[in-house]
Amino acid sequence: MKKLYIIALCIFVTGSILAQPTLTYLENAPQIGDVSNIQSVSANGLSHEPVGPDVSWDFSQLNNLTTGQITGIDSSTAPAGNEFPTANIAFNMNDTIFTYCLVNETGLYYLGSQMLSVQNPLYVISEMDKTGVDAFVLFNRLFQPEIDIDLEEHYFPYNLSTQNDNRISLRYAGLLYGETRAAICSNTGIFTGEDVISMILAGANVVQIVSTLYKNGIGQISTILNEVETWMKKKNYKGLDDYRGKLSKKTLNDPFTYKRAQYVDILMKSEEIFKKYPMV
Ligand SMILES: Cc1cc2nc3c(=O)[nH]c(=O)nc-3n(C[C@H](O)[C@H](O)[C@H](O)COP(=O)(O)O)c2cc1C
Repeated sequence: MKKLYIIALCIFVTGSILAQPTLTYLENAPQIGDVSNIQSVSANGLSHEPVGPDVSWDFSQLNNLTTGQITGIDSSTAPAGNEFPTANIAFNMNDTIFTYCLVNETGLYYLGSQMLSVQNPLYVISEMDKTGVDAFVLFNRLFQPEIDIDLEEHYFPYNLSTQNDNRISLRYAGLLYGETRAAICSNTGIFTGEDVISMILAGANVVQIVSTLYKNGIGQISTILNEVETWMKKKNYKGLDDYRGKLSKKTLNDPFTYKRAQYVDILMKSEEIFKKYPMV
C-alpha cells in the first residue's frame, strides 16, 4: 500500500501543486524518461476513500519519512522485467529499488517491487555467478550463540538441524535451477534419501549432510544411497540428470510455487489445503 502512495504522490508532486489536483492520464501519467521527486510517507490514519471524480482527500496528516528520486524506465530493461510481462513502466530508484507498474487510461497499477541489495540472495548469487563462481552452498548453517541465563554468558551448542530446516534450501534449489552457470549444493536439514531426492527434483546438483550423521551415525550415508537407488529403480531413472530440476521453477507451469504469492493462495483455500496436507 505504501508503494501505491509513493507512486500516487509522485504524480502529485510532478503534476501539480494545487491543493485539489485533478489527475488525468494525458497530463499526469508517468512516462518513460520522467524523473520525479518522491516523498515516502506514513499512511497511518489516512483514508483515501471514497475514490472517483470530484473527491477531496485530506493529506494534512501525512508524516514525511524519506525523500528521493525515481526515473521512469522501460520495464523490459529493468532487472526483473521478464517477471512482470504486463508492466509497461518501471521506476528506478538509485539502481537499487525497481517498482513495476502498468499505466493506462484507467489507472496506475502496482505490480511489484524488487530490491537489489546484499539482502537479496538471488541478486547476490546472480552477480557472483557472472564473475565465474563454480558453485554455491545454500545454506551453510552457522554456529549461533545462545545465552545461559544463570551464568549470564554465551555458549555455543552444536545446534543440529531438523528435517524441517531444509525448506529454504529446497526453495532456492528450485528457484536457481537453470538460472546459474555455477552448480548448486543444497545444505541444511537433509536427513534421508527422500530429502536428497527432493533436492535433486528441485534442481540441486549435489547435497551436503552433517546433522543426520551426528544423529543417525555414519551408516546413514549407505542408508541414504540405498533409499535413492531404490526410488530411482522404481521410477526407472538411470541417473540423477534424468530427474534433476523436474520440479524447479523453470520447469513448472506454475511459476508461483516457489514464490511468496502462494501464501495468499494458501490463506484463501486454507480449509481445503489443511485437509489434504497435515500441519507439521
Ligand atoms: C559440529 C559441526 C561442525 C561444523 N563445522 C563446519 C565447518 O568447519 N565449516 C563449515 O563451513 N560448516 C561447518 N558446519 C556446518 C555444516 O557444514 C552445515 O552447514 C550444517 O551442519 C547444516 O547441515 P546439516 O543440516 O546437514 O547439519 C558444521 C556443523 C556442525 C554441526
